[in-house]
Amino acid sequence: MITIKSAREIEKMRESGAVLAGVHLGLRKLIKPGISSWEIEEFANKYIEEHGAKPSEKGFEGYKYATCVSVNDEVAHAIPRKNLILKNGDVVKVDMTVNLDGFESDSCWAYAVGDISADAKRLMDVTKKALYLGIDQAVVGNRIGDIGHAIQDYVETQNHMGDVRELIGHGIGPTMHEQPNVPHYGEAGHGLRLREGMTITIEPMVNLGTWEIKSKPTADKSWEYYVSADGSLSCQYEHTLAITKDGPKILTSQDPEFDAKYL
Ligand code: MF3
Ligand code: CO
Ligand code: CO
Repeated sequence: MITIKSAREIEKMRESGAVLAGVHLGLRKLIKPGISSWEIEEFANKYIEEHGAKPSEKGFEGYKYATCVSVNDEVAHAIPRKNLILKNGDVVKVDMTVNLDGFESDSCWAYAVGDISADAKRLMDVTKKALYLGIDQAVVGNRIGDIGHAIQDYVETQNHMGDVRELIGHGIGPTMHEQPNVPHYGEAGHGLRLREGMTITIEPMVNLGTWEIKSKPTADKSWEYYVSADGSLSCQYEHTLAITKDGPKILTSQDPEFDAKYL
């Protein structure tokens, strides 16, 4: 079932998204060579709680943390670790969901640790652009396939990178994962028709090599996370957005200038 959100509900999700965006803005300053991925988790927990919200990944399907912190070839859902020290040249993706007054928001951002390679920079640029090309298709009357097609065409056809298939975007609202599914690949003009008041995430994962990924157990075997199948560098950006009659509105924006036309 797909639920249509009222303007009031979208405003509540925007407030939730503002807390989440605040975490990412703080991480911009925190992330540098020498910090552990656990420090990212601690910062996020503290910030979210200080702002009257809840880190809703914690407790989700047995997950124990506020953040997923995935480094380099780790694609998604890696856990924050005290013994994982970020080093110059790493790319770290921090994905989290925030619940404020019963409304969820979900956003992943990628960070360069110190100076990164030209290839890594290109991967980050392509992934971010892919997200925004997907957002541009999230307009009333388009179809779900238009979002995926725009992303896949840009990532694979134009940039010869791997467009991850197995993990997808999703509806979001009072719960973290709702209908519809939002794949980052597909055929233009196919799939569900987008309507005013839908709230979804778009969250492309792009690998420098193959699009294929594999799952791995954590050291204590309590959780499974994903790495690129060929060990290549992976990147992800994710926003929560609302589909409105005035176009797609980003609810997790960190950058009023960059996102000016989506606010
Ligand atoms: N934030 C993720 C998403 O984009 C969900 C992570 S699930 C968790 O859908 F359990 F790993 F937190
Ligand atoms: Co997420
Ligand atoms: Co998501």
